[in-house]
Amino acid sequence: MITSIADTVRLSNGNEIPGVGYGTWQITDASQATEGVKAAIRDGYRHIDTAAAYGNEEAVGKGIAEALEENGLTRKDLFITTKLWKEDFLGAVIEDAETSTEDLPGLKEAAVAAFETSLAQLGLDYVDLYLIHWPANAKGYDNWREINAILWSALEEVYRAGKARAIGVSNFLEHHLQALIEDGDVPPMVNQIEYHLGFAQKAAADYAAANGLVVEAWSPLGSGKVLDNEVLGQVADSLGKTPAQVALRWLLQKDIVVLPKSVTPERIASNAELFDFELDAAQMATLDAIEIDGDHMDPDTIDL
Ligand code: A2P
Repeated sequence: MITSIADTVRLSNGNEIPGVGYGTWQITDASQATEGVKAAIRDGYRHIDTAAAYGNEEAVGKGIAEALEENGLTRKDLFITTKLWKEDFLGAVIEDAETSTEDLPGLKEAAVAAFETSLAQLGLDYVDLYLIHWPANAKGYDNWREINAILWSALEEVYRAGKARAIGVSNFLEHHLQALIEDGDVPPMVNQIEYHLGFAQKAAADYAAANGLVVEAWSPLGSGKVLDNEVLGQVADSLGKTPAQVALRWLLQKDIVVLPKSVTPERIASNAELFDFELDAAQMATLDAIEIDGDHMDPDTIDL
């Protein structure tokens, strides 16, 4: 269990990942992304999570550069994650493959090129973590397993080149992860999945952890939807904390890395104040039992 905003947990390759990251999904406005990143780093966050699909890598990179300068930090003080968005090129590559004698020609090269584009957008010469954003799934592709294995070989290439200091996956359920581990050479180090009060993907999280991966929670506040839950409110009131702080602390106490997103300066600051209280076993059990209705993106059926 981490004890401060910059405290880290160890990945299976020995690298350290800060247990709280600033999430940037759904920050589409460039100046909000830049200012959000700067506020987060000013408030002590040392981990920033973005993705090619978020459309904000350039603005996030600008925020990183300005924050380093303003706070007297260097690149190695930060942990930066981005993700491979395979749908940008996968369709075309698969169409080519149907008329080709080779297996999925160009897929690996296209994935490496997508990584290089992300790096250029961010203005960095390496990232700390690169993830496959979503698995190819059986609903979309008969050869989903082969596609994921080829994409993984691209991540292995950038890892071996030192341009991604760690590599992993996102939204991989047990069967996707098992296949990838069997097919690849470098074991994935992280699985980033949707995980929040009322939607604990426990089977996926437990399988990843049992295989040595660090689990990260995207939408740790359920994109804000968990925050008006009455039971959460009662626990938060009894502790003198905000619902968001309790929802995040609940995840940290499960050794899950949290990536809260906010564009609101006071919330960015308060979402980092998670280390002056503790949830006891009864409070954890109360929070575990919360049920919240909602639609979720299913890695087995999602058509991105
Ligand atoms: P905003 O960005 O307008 O501040 P998640 O991290 O689960 O994706 O949730 C993000 C959503 O939760 C955003 O809409 C964000 O709003 C909101 N949010 C983030 N932190 C807080 C907070 N401390 N209190 C209330 N809402 C918050």
